[in-house]
Amino acid sequence: MNSFLRKILGFFIVGIGMVILLFSCQATPVTQSQPTTTTPAATPTETPTTTPTPANFPPVASVNSEATLPAQLPPLPYAASALEKAIDAQTMQLHHDRHHAAYVNNLNEAIKQSPDLQNRSVESLLRDLNSVPENIRTTVRNNGGGHLNHTIFWQIMSPNGGGQPTGAIAGEINKTFGSFEGFRKQFNSAGGDRFGSGWVWLVRNPQGQLQIVSTPNQDSPIMDGNYPIMGNDVWEHAYYLRYQNRRAEYLDNWWNVVNWEEVNRRSQVSGQRS
Ligand SMILES: [Fe+2]
Repeated sequence: MNSFLRKILGFFIVGIGMVILLFSCQATPVTQSQPTTTTPAATPTETPTTTPTPANFPPVASVNSEATLPAQLPPLPYAASALEKAIDAQTMQLHHDRHHAAYVNNLNEAIKQSPDLQNRSVESLLRDLNSVPENIRTTVRNNGGGHLNHTIFWQIMSPNGGGQPTGAIAGEINKTFGSFEGFRKQFNSAGGDRFGSGWVWLVRNPQGQLQIVSTPNQDSPIMDGNYPIMGNDVWEHAYYLRYQNRRAEYLDNWWNVVNWEEVNRRSQVSGQRS
């Protein structure tokens, strides 16, 4: 083959190759890089506003949940001697380790034969005492209330408490009662007037307003549809070792340990129902 023919053959082969390459490029589908898309964040759905019912009533006993059953004695959130500004260590120990423990044990004993009651919360039982069998109703009322009331009581006191109210509750107290001093006087007066044993409370009533109420024995404000924001125990077991019969002095000193931070938290939770 002479050089002329080799050149012709070479051009021919190169030409065929280019044609094949051209077709192969066209045959291959062009894959476009897909644009990065961001799935739009789900539009937050609004929580429907509903009228509170016993089922959706905000938790009463603790930060995260209602008081579950069987009941458990919560530990004191500070040393028994930490509230000496108002309550002596021995009173705190007896009050928590004996009295509160007895409410817990008595409540559990009362409901141990009733699995359906054990699946409910203490709050649920107290809000609907008629659903509790009559033969244990009073026991559940007294001891369920005792457990719930004392669980709240330990939380709304603090070694770092006392002084003027802070946060939103301070303004609401002024608005409702005129001043903190006015509120304190009314609260102490209601606690002093409670004949026998019971509690004095600052509650949020079903109309959403702050109100001072007093309950006898271990009755809980939730039995009347009120949300307990703060409360003082005026049973003699709460103060008698130091104050003997001087309940008024105990009521006065108690303000030195009020945990306004927790009171504010409870007030905020109570507002969720209205
Ligand atoms: Fe008590």
